[in-house]
Amino acid sequence: MGLIAAVVGIIIVAVVVGVVVSNNNKKNSNLSTTSSSDSSTGASANATTQQTNPNDPSSFTKDPTLHQSFYGMAYTPVGSQLPDCGNSLAAVIQDIQIMSQLTPRVRLYGADCNQSALVLEAIKQTKVNMTVYLGNYPVPTDNGTAYTRQRDEIKAAIQTYGTDHIGGITVGNEFMLNYVTQNAITDVNSAAANVGAAILLANIQDTQSMLTTMGVTIPVGNADAGSYFNDEVLAAVNYGMANVHPWFANVSATDSASWTATFFQQQDVVLAESLSNNATMYIAETGWPTKSSDVGNESNGPSIASVANLQIFLDNFVCQANTNGTGYFFFEFADESWKDAEFGGVEGWWGLFNQEYIFVCPLLE
Ligand SMILES: *[C@@H]1O[C@H](CO)[C@@H](O)[C@H](O)[C@H]1NC(C)=O
Ligand SMILES: *[C@@H]1O[C@H](CO)[C@@H](O)[C@H](O)[C@H]1NC(C)=O
Ligand SMILES: *[C@@H]1O[C@H](CO)[C@@H](O)[C@H](O)[C@H]1NC(C)=O
Ligand SMILES: *[C@@H]1O[C@H](CO)[C@@H](O)[C@H](O)[C@H]1NC(C)=O
Ligand SMILES: *[C@@H]1O[C@H](CO)[C@@H](O)[C@H](O)[C@H]1NC(C)=O
Ligand SMILES: *[C@@H]1O[C@H](CO)[C@@H](O)[C@H](O)[C@H]1NC(C)=O
Ligand SMILES: *[C@@H]1O[C@H](CO)[C@@H](O)[C@H](O)[C@H]1NC(C)=O
Ligand SMILES: *[C@@H]1O[C@H](CO)[C@@H](O)[C@H](O)[C@H]1NC(C)=O
Ligand SMILES: *[C@@H]1O[C@H](CO)[C@@H](O)[C@H](O)[C@H]1NC(C)=O
Repeated sequence: MGLIAAVVGIIIVAVVVGVVVSNNNKKNSNLSTTSSSDSSTGASANATTQQTNPNDPSSFTKDPTLHQSFYGMAYTPVGSQLPDCGNSLAAVIQDIQIMSQLTPRVRLYGADCNQSALVLEAIKQTKVNMTVYLGNYPVPTDNGTAYTRQRDEIKAAIQTYGTDHIGGITVGNEFMLNYVTQNAITDVNSAAANVGAAILLANIQDTQSMLTTMGVTIPVGNADAGSYFNDEVLAAVNYGMANVHPWFANVSATDSASWTATFFQQQDVVLAESLSNNATMYIAETGWPTKSSDVGNESNGPSIASVANLQIFLDNFVCQANTNGTGYFFFEFADESWKDAEFGGVEGWWGLFNQEYIFVCPLLE
């Protein structure tokens, strides 16, 4: 049970609150880093996105070092937190050009700052085969303000772009984890926890009826920490996305792949199968931090933040999960410096790339 508690993690993807350190303008509009991979020396590969026609984002040249290795990728465009925002279509297009060479699926966490439309517009302009799971990140304590604001952005994006590239709408990110933590509730299925679940359920049902009214069919899901699904919430959605983090559970990099598989199966897949709707389950986040901003948070028992350990995690987890047919979203596309500024520790350092698209870690063979 100690392990389960630890997996709570502190992966706060605060789309709703927070001081934003936007380094959007650090991204060049043209990337010209050389690209190669040499795992014998550990040299980093750097992703490139050169367009042969500067006016046509679909004309980008493919980077031979990138492969569609991942089932899916967790993604937040830089500058997608209120009140500052600051994201841009040009930056999202570059991200999609690179991510589309790694995976056919991305998931977003929230809808503020027009990120749903930006991603769908980028998919349209790049003409890539990419499905996006849109996100709505409600907060338990604002009387639905954040939920409604994001719902309306999602609605507008569907009206503009249609449903072809939308895999689902995930309503709630660690909502129950936050609710029970803030209210000192130990059992996520207790009567007290169900009071919070009712807030989230109202949001989920509202999105479902919005889609019905619009005459479109899109799966509606929910994401939470792997041991914090409330039964009533999971019974109301088409899919659940579970955060499963070996690093927060004090598991060594060597043991992380099998631990993640076991935890997800026992905590999440079994739970979904026990409920009448048998929601489809995905791993919403799994990954490994490459560093900590302070020495004290670098390790969690045997789990140590380092590039070498991310490589071990990738080498073991990705191939096994692909072989096993597990739907997972690698956490995450790029380091997020706003999280480092706000939370410190390992929070900002989970990216496969840094903000300049330089690989933090060599990819899979
Ligand atoms: C990007 O590349 C295009 C085409 O090569 C070029 O016209 C443009 O000036 C470049 N932009 C920057 C900011 O380097
Ligand atoms: C990637 O970029 C970094 C920083 O510019 C550079 O030091 C490194 O040599 C590059 N790696 C490769 C393989 O080109
Ligand atoms: C949202 O992004 C889309 C796609 O780039 C754009 O057409 C639209 O004007 C944007 N809306 C706002 C409010 O910025
Ligand atoms: C698009 O990606 C999906 C998911 O991997 C795949 O099933 C499908 O065949 C792809 N379509 C094309 C045209 O490549
Ligand atoms: C919460 O929102 C509802 C409807 O959106 C409104 O009627 C109610 O007054 C609000 N309550 C508070 C405490 O703001
Ligand atoms: C894949 O399945 C094997 C056999 O059941 C299991 O030992 C392994 O832990 C699984 N790994 C992942 C990452 O799913
Ligand atoms: C639940 O769905 C999965 C496929 O997603 C299927 O393998 C399993 O048999 C189903 N379980 C029940 C109890 O219906
Ligand atoms: C994980 O390791 C940290 C640091 O050593 C320790 O404080 C914490 O109690 C451990 N948690 C578990 C669940 O073992
Ligand atoms: C860093 O470590 C301290 C002491 O254990 C802890 O209180 C704090 O929450 C940690 N910060 C992060 C971001 O993990």
